Amino acid sequence: MTIGIHPLHPLFVGEVSGADLTRPLSVAEIAEIEAAIATYAVLVFRDQRITDEQQLGFSECFGSLEHTGGTGISKPSEQRLHPAFADVSNLDVGGEVLARDNRRRLYSLGNMLWHSDSSFKAVPAKYSLLSGRVVVDKGGETEFADMRAAYDSFDDATKAEIEDLVCEHSLMYSRDVLGFEDLTEIEKATMRPVRQVLVRTHPVSGRKSVYLASHIGKIIGWPVPEARAFIRDLTEQVTQPEFVYRHVWRPFDLVMWDNRCTMHRARRYDATSVRDMRRTTVAGDAPTVAMGPSNI
Ligand code: OGA
Ligand code: MN
Repeated sequence: MTIGIHPLHPLFVGEVSGADLTRPLSVAEIAEIEAAIATYAVLVFRDQRITDEQQLGFSECFGSLEHTGGTGISKPSEQRLHPAFADVSNLDVGGEVLARDNRRRLYSLGNMLWHSDSSFKAVPAKYSLLSGRVVVDKGGETEFADMRAAYDSFDDATKAEIEDLVCEHSLMYSRDVLGFEDLTEIEKATMRPVRQVLVRTHPVSGRKSVYLASHIGKIIGWPVPEARAFIRDLTEQVTQPEFVYRHVWRPFDLVMWDNRCTMHRARRYDATSVRDMRRTTVAGDAPTVAMGPSNI
């Protein structure tokens, strides 16, 4: 079967038709999806009433999956989903909506800051696949920004300045932005900063992109305030409306994105409404910088 792609934005994002993710895909279909995501960076699949097992099966077609329980924010006994899922919902293990001051809820508000998944890991994520099982009526959209088009829009001086820069990423930095400060020593130990290049070249499309995230706290060799002011400035530039697609969720949408060349963020919604979103994450192939003692 051949899939069809309908663009949802002038720069990126394709809606895929003709794919049923509840059944195993052929090698040819997987290759078509990989080719499509190399072009569109974000793919939207509608009406995919998948189970967790089917989501795992589909995700594994693209590589090995990250096990996202790594930060230790919720204990295994508090986790609703298989450890290969990032539980992006606002629900506890019993399916109840988390209280407004619930620690896991407050921690997950980091998703409202522009980011790329797992940029705080030495080997950052390749694809993320987010399935909307129960979506909210108002708010709760997910916005995506095209970091290739944003890079292309930079003037030559900016491109030259950022070409060889290396940044430090940590969950500690993004949580600090939110004022989420009561991290335990064990949690802090799992959030040791890693280094990532600021300019990446996509292995399939060959396009350059700027690799930003709210997890950045330093640029190697720069004074910290100057680095943070510059990163904030770049983030403003790359998230201007022309580079952004806003996904309004319908039940059973599955959105798949390439973290190597996009950023995303969640938008606010009523904390008392159920939002059940489940993410699987395909691991990357290699670190973006040469491994040294500071990046192990
Ligand atoms: C994610 C994420 C945003 C959202 O799943 O990685 O950032 O809208 N989600 O829930
Ligand atoms: Mn995310």
